Amino acid sequence: MSFRTFITPLIFLAAFTAAKAENLIKIESDNYIIVYDVAGNNRVYQRYLGKKLRHPDDYSRIANSREALLTHGMEDYFEPAIHINHADNNQSTLLEYTNHTQTTAPDGSTCTVISLADPVYNSKVNLCCTVYPENDVFKIHTEIINGENEPVQIEKYASALLHFDRPSYYLTQYDGDWATEANITESQLSFGKKVLDSKLGTRANMFCAPFFNISFDNPGNETSGDVLTGTLAWTGNFRFTFEVDHNGGLRLISGINPYASQRVLNPNETFITPDFVFTLSDSGTGKASRNLHDWARNHQIAHGNDDRMVLLNNWETTFFDINEQKITNLIHQAKDFGFDLFLLDDGWFGNKYPRHNDTQGLGDWDENSNIFPNGIGVLTAAAKNDSVKFGIWIEPEMVNPRSELYENHKDWVITLPNRPEYYFRNQLVLDLTNPEVQDYVFGIVDTLMTRYPDISFFKWDCNSPITNIYSNYEKNRQSHLYVDYVHGLYNVLERIRTKYPDLVMMMCSSGGGRCDYGGLEYFDEFWTSDNTDPLDRLFIQWGFSQIFPAKVLCAHVTNWNRNTSLKFRTNVAMMGKLGFDLNLSDLNQQQAAYCRQAIKNYNSFKNTVLNGDIYRLVSPYKTEHAAIMYVDKTGDDAVVFTFDISPRFNTNILHTQRVVHLQGLNPDSQYRVKEIDRPDAEDAEWGTFSGEYLMTIGLPMLTSSRMNSRVFRIEKI
Ligand code: DGJ
Repeated sequence: MSFRTFITPLIFLAAFTAAKAENLIKIESDNYIIVYDVAGNNRVYQRYLGKKLRHPDDYSRIANSREALLTHGMEDYFEPAIHINHADNNQSTLLEYTNHTQTTAPDGSTCTVISLADPVYNSKVNLCCTVYPENDVFKIHTEIINGENEPVQIEKYASALLHFDRPSYYLTQYDGDWATEANITESQLSFGKKVLDSKLGTRANMFCAPFFNISFDNPGNETSGDVLTGTLAWTGNFRFTFEVDHNGGLRLISGINPYASQRVLNPNETFITPDFVFTLSDSGTGKASRNLHDWARNHQIAHGNDDRMVLLNNWETTFFDINEQKITNLIHQAKDFGFDLFLLDDGWFGNKYPRHNDTQGLGDWDENSNIFPNGIGVLTAAAKNDSVKFGIWIEPEMVNPRSELYENHKDWVITLPNRPEYYFRNQLVLDLTNPEVQDYVFGIVDTLMTRYPDISFFKWDCNSPITNIYSNYEKNRQSHLYVDYVHGLYNVLERIRTKYPDLVMMMCSSGGGRCDYGGLEYFDEFWTSDNTDPLDRLFIQWGFSQIFPAKVLCAHVTNWNRNTSLKFRTNVAMMGKLGFDLNLSDLNQQQAAYCRQAIKNYNSFKNTVLNGDIYRLVSPYKTEHAAIMYVDKTGDDAVVFTFDISPRFNTNILHTQRVVHLQGLNPDSQYRVKEIDRPDAEDAEWGTFSGEYLMTIGLPMLTSSRMNSRVFRIEKI
């Protein structure tokens, strides 16, 4: 008997017994459903995951069931989701159905908890799935409970395992590095395992973003095809395993990366894994993005439905070279140009070791008395006087070895006791597994807020991965460090949010080194990339927009790539949460006038960009142009951004190649189209068109000019 024929009957154990309808557990959104089946052997199988069927009886006829949570040590020979080492050293776990509950929350989400237990050991696992019906968004996590009398060790503790049976699978991943985040690569999955993961700890997503798409049957497409877009809500090490088995089935296992992270579970202790969040779409990746964006604004992001402030940041104007006069001048400029917020970046603190550069001072969060002899209060007062909000940069999880904090509390630092230290950006990570350190980190924000209650914004930076991996606090539980670190961070953020619910916070990790929905429960937005070259940003923002709404993607106008016009740079930044990080004094009169007008323009349409539906119309990956559209929730107002990247100079591109077909409008409504944000400050009317015309015939919005950008306002009349 070949391996293939031998294994098949085991895996399809439940396949030959048609399920009784009453044994089915249905977890459904408006359009999709997961159907679990409690089989005759009392084990739980995933019977179906896909579009809802019109005839509910059909679910019980589907033959292809696979065990819902594969465990180590039983009959399946592929990657398990759960692996428990029991107190007697037996490593096998079998999970049988105990009961399940389904409840609906006031926000309309439904939560299903399927309780499973091992008949031999007192190990229990809850499989928990929350559904947001109108968004077709599902969140799955597991809870692993040690009911034994002695500690057990969990080796693998995935949040979710999903099975798919399709002819082919195309995986889109988002990887890169500092300043080149979220590059898109698509590849077809074939037999075996593909793993996307991180083991960097704090700056977990430096090389690989914690999200992906799987397109089924055909390569991914913006507007058509079945797709799953998924992400883990966890600000630490993650792992997605895509395994195509011998039957062509795809097993998707998502969760914390168990790398170097075996956990001891004491008797009666429960380990709760983070949520694997995913959505399904039958209309391509565009719809999947819109599902996630809506869900995130309504249910996940801090202040998800609130407005966002246009900010002026001093970092690229001054770097570390700051003083009271310079910063006060910038605050006045912020008022003059119409900014909502001024953000003071790195360099304002440290006295014994002044933060003149990135080699020292991190950890000593008192303002430097030479730079700010009158304290930060002078700045918050100046801002208040100018009706501008004040924000400040901190990097509270980190320490420079040249700092008083390091001198006084080396035991708070993650560092190997018996080896020379090595540094990433001259710094080390504080040990947030230690409650004393959590108090200290909370105290950084709390002290600043107590001293300067007019601070309304924090930029929370995190420039180093966890290096020199050893915790003084965990002592003989070193393998708990990565996971407990994140729990410690969340404890601190929870305390901050409880005490300062209105504070606005930007998550930053040298750019998008942290970009996850776990963090965004506490943070309002994140710094997408240190790379603000608008050409690169077109790609970087295109990548991040697959998962995150414009509202959380901080996009600043800077001097990166001065070969592009200020307008081009600004138009790219307007597709996110707009800010400026350039020296406004360097602008000539015309540029300054453009900036003032651009901020006004952005404010006039930002509700549509930040809270509306995104349509990625023309891809920079496939053409020498890009076009992205945002439609407000009424369908009455839209903004279209078009970019001509590098057509050859004066190339006479075909008319058909200039045409952009809009999406998301009402075909029967009439819309006035005008080009706004023009260098001459005059809007140009393009006429009135039906929604059908704009979506079917389209308008020639692209040009053959290099580095050209246009903004169109589409308003229902
Ligand atoms: C890295 C961030 O990404 C930058 O924006 C800036 O805040 C620097 N850190 C400051 O050190």
